[in-house]
Order: sequence, then structure tokens, then C-alpha cells
Amino acid sequence: MKRLLSAEKSDDGVVLTVHWEGGHRARFHAMWLRDNAPDPATRSPTNAQRLITLHDIPADTTIADATVSNDMLSVRFAPEEKTVAFPSGWLRDHAYDVRAGNGTGWTSPDLEIWDGQFDVLRVTGNYQNVHDDADALKDWLAGVRCYGFAKLTDGPVASGALLDVASMFGYVRETNYGKWFEVRTEVNPTNLAYTGLGLQAHTDNPYRDPVPTLQILYCLENSAAGGDSQVVDGFAAALRLRAEDPRGFDLLTRYCARFEYRGAGDVHLVSRKPMIELTPDGELAVIRFNNRSTAAITDVPFDDMAGYYAAYRRLGEIIDDPAMAVGFKLQPGECFIVDNTRVLHGRSGYADSGGTRWLQGCYADKDGLLSTLSVLEQTCLEDVA
Ligand code: FE2
Repeated sequence: MKRLLSAEKSDDGVVLTVHWEGGHRARFHAMWLRDNAPDPATRSPTNAQRLITLHDIPADTTIADATVSNDMLSVRFAPEEKTVAFPSGWLRDHAYDVRAGNGTGWTSPDLEIWDGQFDVLRVTGNYQNVHDDADALKDWLAGVRCYGFAKLTDGPVASGALLDVASMFGYVRETNYGKWFEVRTEVNPTNLAYTGLGLQAHTDNPYRDPVPTLQILYCLENSAAGGDSQVVDGFAAALRLRAEDPRGFDLLTRYCARFEYRGAGDVHLVSRKPMIELTPDGELAVIRFNNRSTAAITDVPFDDMAGYYAAYRRLGEIIDDPAMAVGFKLQPGECFIVDNTRVLHGRSGYADSGGTRWLQGCYADKDGLLSTLSVLEQTCLEDVA
């Protein structure tokens, strides 16, 4: 870690420039520093929640004085006459004067984008290990964060076991389908309607707002020939579309699609969201792709609709490209989890030789998973320290 060398304030005290060894420097605004002061009157020492509002900080806050010693920055704010110490490492980690624009469609460095060459073994954990061992759980959850997908093997062949998978990191999201739902297929060789019935890779429930951000699919029977599970990195598909057709990518990000599910009885779910959602600064955020649930799209202006449909078609072709998909056959007691905001899942067709396929599915959310992972990673760091 580079040492903090010096800090000088602007003449009006509104900006502070901080210098580290090696010529690194970053500018900070007085208001930003005051709002992010780590002292116990500003931030709770127990849960790090802010204890004041911006109204509690004078609008004319400036830096009266700034000194550096022992790798700490000490700032005296006027007119409060309040002195606050900032650790050098914290300032480096939170510097905002160093980032260039990332461009449209950027992704977090925490993520790795993949295609059909991806080796499923890299994200495959043993059920019992992941259940019993915190390190194994940490590695497995880190795989979900990085790749948006992971698998477990050798779990119990028992109805409802998928709930135990969710409870390893968080909570099931109950929906109108219940805590979990059944995915059962009986392949009847005398009924050709059941043969070759594949399911295009898709994200689940785009008609919900917010969508369930995780899905677990757990296998209890799989004696049918075929019916392999397939997953596709939707971010990889979106980035390929961007490379091939930037305008088409732009259309799918800029306009909302409509999604709808009308169930029996009292269920009617609708949403108005883009197929490729970006954050305001261009980060790839959510993929929604599900031909069964796409309603009439009415938010694209007439002049852009032809281009929009061409991009929608091309995105589907990319998703269907076998070079993008990772396939595997789930055995009873195996399951996989997908980040439903990123990774699409589907199923290959069956041969007409008979057999059954019984999966159970449930939804959960990434906030719980990422929270569990973060705590495991901090515990790991503390153990090393
Ligand atoms: Fe699905």
C-alpha cells in the first residue's frame, strides 16, 4: 500500500488534493469528505449506518485545515470547527477522481463473462461439503457471483430439498407459484407431441417487478433420454449483440418491452422493462428474455420498431447459438442455481424412448446470497489476519 504523503486545500477550501507515494493523487470535495466522515457522531460504529442527514451539514462547508501524519489525513471543517481523521487506505479505496468512463455495456470486475467453452466443474460443488464447510460454501457462492451460475451434486433425492439449498445462503422468495413449483415431464413414446420438446433459453418471470434474482432447479428424477439443462450467459449474448450491431443493442436498452402472465383465477402480472437493462452509467444490469411471456410491445416508436424487432430477433439467434450454451444432464440429487438477472436457462429436447423428468424449482434473491458471501469473505480475512 502506498503511503499518504500530503494534502493541500484549494484557496476557497472547497477541494482537497491528496498525494500518495508513487505520484498518485486524488481530489475530494469538502462536502463529500464531511458527509463521509467516519467519526462515531457521523457513522454508527456498530452497523456503519449514517447518523446525520445532509441538512445537518452546513451548505457552506469548507476545509479550514488538512494535515497528514502516520498515513492518516486529518481534516478540520469550517464552519463546524469539527476535525475528522480519514485512513489513507479508505481514501484510496473510495477515490472518485480516478475513473475514466466505462462506456455502454460495461460489467463489474467481479464478473467473468463466458460462453459454451465454460467448464461446469469450475462452479460445481458437493452438496454436503457446501452445506457443512464454510470455505466450500464461500467458494460456491463466489462462483454464483462471478459466473451467475453454479451446480451442486450428490444431494438428497427428496422432495423439498431445494429449500435447504436456499437456506444455505438466504431465503426463498415465495410467489403465486408457491414456495416451490414442480417441473414434471413424462416422455410417452406413443405420443409424439412429447418428443423433441426443447425449451429456448430464457430468464424466468420477466413479468414480475422486481424479477426473482435467483432460481434453483433441483432434480429428483431424470430417466428420459435428452432433456439436458442448458445455460447461457445473457451478458455474453448482449455484449455479442453490441459488438455486431451497436444500434440494435442500443434499441433494446433504450426502450421498454412489456411482459405479462395471466394465470388461472386471480393472478395477472405485468411489467414494463427493457430486455437489456443498463444502469444510468451504462453498466449491464438485467437481461429479460422470455418469448412466452413477452406481451405486445407498444413503447417503441413506429420509426424504431423495425430496428427493434431485428435486434430482438438477433439477440434470440445469439442465445440459440450452440456456441453460447453450456449443457449438462442433471442426475437425481443434483441442482443448479442461476442469477436470473443474467443467466438464461433452457432444456434440450427428448428422444422418444420414454422416461420421466422431475425437477423442483424455487426462487430466491441475490441480496441474501451476496450478504452471506460478504460475511464469509470478511471472516476469512479476519482468520488470515
Ligand atoms: Fe424457466
